[in-house]
Amino acid sequence: MAILLTGGAGFIGSHTAVCLMQAGYDVVLADNFSNSSPKVVGRIAEITGKTPVCVEADVCDKEAVRNIFRAHDISAVVHFAGLKAVGESVQKPLEYYRNNLDSALTVLEVMREFGCRQFVFSSSATVYGDQPAPLNESAPTGGCSNPYGWTKFMIEKILIDAARADETLSVVLLRYFNPIGAHESGRIGEDPQGIPNNLMPYITQVASGRREKLTVFGNDYPTPDGTGVRDYIHVCDLAEGHRCALEYAAAHTGCEVFNLGTGHGYSVLDMVHTFTRVNGVDVPYVIGPRRAGDLATVYAACDKAKEVLGWQAQRDLEAMCRDSWNWQKKNPMGYDA
Ligand code: NAD
Ligand code: UD1
Repeated sequence: MAILLTGGAGFIGSHTAVCLMQAGYDVVLADNFSNSSPKVVGRIAEITGKTPVCVEADVCDKEAVRNIFRAHDISAVVHFAGLKAVGESVQKPLEYYRNNLDSALTVLEVMREFGCRQFVFSSSATVYGDQPAPLNESAPTGGCSNPYGWTKFMIEKILIDAARADETLSVVLLRYFNPIGAHESGRIGEDPQGIPNNLMPYITQVASGRREKLTVFGNDYPTPDGTGVRDYIHVCDLAEGHRCALEYAAAHTGCEVFNLGTGHGYSVLDMVHTFTRVNGVDVPYVIGPRRAGDLATVYAACDKAKEVLGWQAQRDLEAMCRDSWNWQKKNPMGYDA
């Protein structure tokens, strides 16, 4: 029996692969490498001492997904595959709707053909739209500010309906807050293509001299220091959340949703100052205008994951900053060095 990780070569998928393999699971990664490198497989093998099966496949291609299910005894799927750049989704909405919706539907249909009934989905805090923090799972969803967010909202809806119609199906929706950090070995981490959109990869590239300075997007928000507040979570804690979700899915049918965050909010300047202090490197920054679509304060209520899954984030902001920098230092150009 193996767990299929679609998009398993990506940032969160690769860390989850390590976590699951170390917990004794067999995994099969399926990725088209549109936003990742095949080199990840060798890095995972270095960390775990075992090479995971990795299939190069577009999971919108039904026959390719069937071939994976024919070749491997898949007991559950964690569906990471998707396009995730918010700004690009505004420029290329059709590509985002096609890839994200089609991949989820294709995998679900093939799972049904092969009698595989457990599905864990990578959703996002973005489905909450603009609502007061802390956000808990019963808050209404919708009001997304971009097509990427709407793909997450729509896939959640599809999964809720699918689980309602088929009582043998088990679905876990995981709403991630802001994943950062890297495996402590520094062998796997986040490798954004081009100019990073997200805060932590931008900070690490400034710290390493690859970019000149960080622009802080606005300091006039209603937050303690005026900069945006987010719930940053270490990617290894997030990976552990998937292990717990898979255990839950194996024991329950129906559809459940969990926030995966820490429950703490940190501002952009908190991040810069903590990164500088922990790593002893400067991060030059300037204050710029707000970024369109950004919210002032987003953080999770995490009680449900703790009570139901028995999961809680363990690593603090210092560990997140240290591990992000360790990865960047050891891999200044990502996997392509
Ligand atoms: P990532 O881009 O590193 O990983 C996604 C992987 O999916 C990539 O390796 C990409 O090549 C692959 N992929 C995309 N379309 C595919 C397809 N049709 N067939 C096969 N492979 C395909 O992103 P990540 O940060 O690891 O995110 C994983 C998932 O979590 C995504 O669905 C993302 O939307 C979601 N998510 C991420 C964040 C975040 O901040 N990183 C936050 C919330 C939700
Ligand atoms: C963004 C996406 C969200 C997605 C998440 C993870 C938007 C509006 N939201 O969330 O849908 O799920 O990424 O991929 O894009 N910041 C700077 N300077 C920078 C970069 C960021 O000041 O160069 C600030 C932002 O204004 C924000 C904070 O840092 O206050 C975090 O930004 P980011 O890492 O992009 O995450 P989110 O905006 O929370």
